[in-house]
Amino acid sequence: MSVALELLNRDRILAELPDVACNRLSRLEVYPTLDSTNAYLLEGARAGWPSGAVCLAERQTAGRGRQGRNWVTPFGAGLAFSLLWRFEVSPEALGGLSLVTGIAVARALQNLGVLEVGLKWPNDIWWHERKLGGILLESGGTARMFYVVAGIGLNVALPDPDAALIDQPWVDLREILGAVPVDRNRLAAALIGDLIGAFCRFQESGFAGFTEEWVRFDRVRGRRVHLQLPNTTVAGIARGVDATGALLLETEDGRLSSYLGGEIGLRVGS
Ligand code: BTN
Repeated sequence: MSVALELLNRDRILAELPDVACNRLSRLEVYPTLDSTNAYLLEGARAGWPSGAVCLAERQTAGRGRQGRNWVTPFGAGLAFSLLWRFEVSPEALGGLSLVTGIAVARALQNLGVLEVGLKWPNDIWWHERKLGGILLESGGTARMFYVVAGIGLNVALPDPDAALIDQPWVDLREILGAVPVDRNRLAAALIGDLIGAFCRFQESGFAGFTEEWVRFDRVRGRRVHLQLPNTTVAGIARGVDATGALLLETEDGRLSSYLGGEIGLRVGS
């Protein structure tokens, strides 16, 4: 039996969003198709839109992933949205923000019944070592008035032909939650609410207040990993993160080095 697709609906998302998050929202837009929700909000940021702008798209024709990859977004099969936030701090202080975004997404999913959700540094959303979602942070502005666009993509119910294009182990919410149908409007509201809450907290106290939660979701700690840096690969044992969100890697000679997000790739296993 096929179940009718419930489209994303601005009023339903707003109705489910907690007041504290609503108060921080400057706009909420839902589109049937966009090239990329990140590209759309970056354009808005350059035009001077204030913090708290959110946009969602049922389908992206040029969805962007990390490290120059595409992000597959077939119509109604996932959740693709972005949040624009402005920070009155220097860009260096934003190191942990990408991890904080992952924590907020993982927390929201756990509250919705995705109990075994985890994070692969810096911010892949994992379920049993299969990718459930991804996060792409893009930024701009000046040193003291910086903006970040945080883009979140989640697999909800991927059709087979689109899933065949994904070049790594993946999973969608339909498989995880089985018979329980996914209410994407409720999911969107929960994610946006937790994300706004986390960004407000980060603005006040940085990454320090999130380190315990990171430990709870971190799925690479203690594992052998390979870090793909721009010109080389480094192998070692992942030893968690430091106070800025940088990955701590213990290499064979016993030394501990830290690596901060950006375009670093990470492969788990030997
Ligand atoms: C990754 O490669 O893991 C990051 C994927 C991020 C995809 C999301 S979907 C919404 C937002 N808009 C984009 O173009 N990309 C991000």
